[in-house]
Amino acid sequence: MINLKTNIASLNMENPTMLASGLMDEDAGSMKRILNCGAGAIVTKSIGLEPREGYNNPTVLDLEYGIINAMGLPNPGIIEFGQEVKQIKKLKPPLIGSIYGSNSKEFIELAEKMQKYGANALELNMSCPHAKGYGLEIGSDPKFVKDITSKVKQSVEIPVFVKISPNLTNIIEIAKSAEKGKADAIVAINSVKAMKIDIDLKMPVLANKVGGYSGKAIKPIGVRCVYEISENVSIPIIGVGGITSGEDAIEYFMAGASAVQIGSAIYYRGLDVFKKVCDEIKDWMKINKYDNISDLIGVAHK
Ligand code: DHB
Repeated sequence: MINLKTNIASLNMENPTMLASGLMDEDAGSMKRILNCGAGAIVTKSIGLEPREGYNNPTVLDLEYGIINAMGLPNPGIIEFGQEVKQIKKLKPPLIGSIYGSNSKEFIELAEKMQKYGANALELNMSCPHAKGYGLEIGSDPKFVKDITSKVKQSVEIPVFVKISPNLTNIIEIAKSAEKGKADAIVAINSVKAMKIDIDLKMPVLANKVGGYSGKAIKPIGVRCVYEISENVSIPIIGVGGITSGEDAIEYFMAGASAVQIGSAIYYRGLDVFKKVCDEIKDWMKINKYDNISDLIGVAHK
C-alpha cells in the first residue's frame, strides 16, 4: 500500500506537493481551486506590511525552457490579506504564509499577524532576486538570516521555514545560518536571476530589466542546491525549482527533500498538476517497490 502522507515540522499533509509561492495564491478563491486540484499544502504570495503595486508590465514572459518574471512583490498588504487567510483556514490542508520584510521588526510584525489570521506555518522570503531592500538583499547575509529567523521563531509558535536563493556562492553558509536561527525547514530554491533581451527593440523585455527564471530549465540547479544543503544541515528541506512531473519530484526526494513545491508547472500542465505529479510518484514507487516516501529521502547520497 503506497503512502504519500508527509509530515514537515508539525504540518500533516495528505501528499508531499505544495503550491509554491507566487502563483494562484493572491486570494482565497484561487487558493481553494489549487487545494481542490490535490495540493497537500499551499504557500501564499509573499505579503508585506503595506500594499504594493508591483512593477509595470511586461512582468512575465514564457521562454523556451522556462519562465522569466519580475512582478515586483505586488500584494494588498498584511491587513487586507488577513481576510483571505481566514477564509482558507476553514479548509483542512496546511496554509503557509509567505512574508517579506526589510528588517527583523517588519518580519516579526508580519509573522505575528499571519499566525493570528490562522496560518499553520511561515515561509520567510529571503530570496526574491530583484526587490530593492528585500529578499535576496537580506538573504545573502548570514548574520541577517540567523538574526531574523531566530527573532521570528521567538515571536510565534507555528513552524518557520526559510526560503533561500540559488543566486549565492555561500548557499551552505546561508542554510546553516537559518538552522542556527532555529528554522524548522529550508525551502530551496527561489528563481534564478536572469534577463531576456529583445534583439529587435535592443532592450530588456521585462520592465524591471532583471527577473527570476523558473520552470524546467532550473531543475538541475535546484537539485544540486538541495543535495549540497542536505549534506550540511539536519532540518528538513522542501525542494522547489522546475518540478513538473513525478519523476522530477523523486529526483528532489533522492537529493534530500522531504516535500516539494510546484509553481511554473501549473502553466505547463494545468491546475491539476498536483494530482498528476502524485499519481506519477505513486506509479514510480509501485514499479520500484517503495511503500513510503521517507525511504526515498536522500538515497542519492549513499
Ligand atoms: C516576486 C518574485 C520572487 O522570486 C519572490 O520570491 C517574491 C516575489 C515578485 O516578483 O513578485
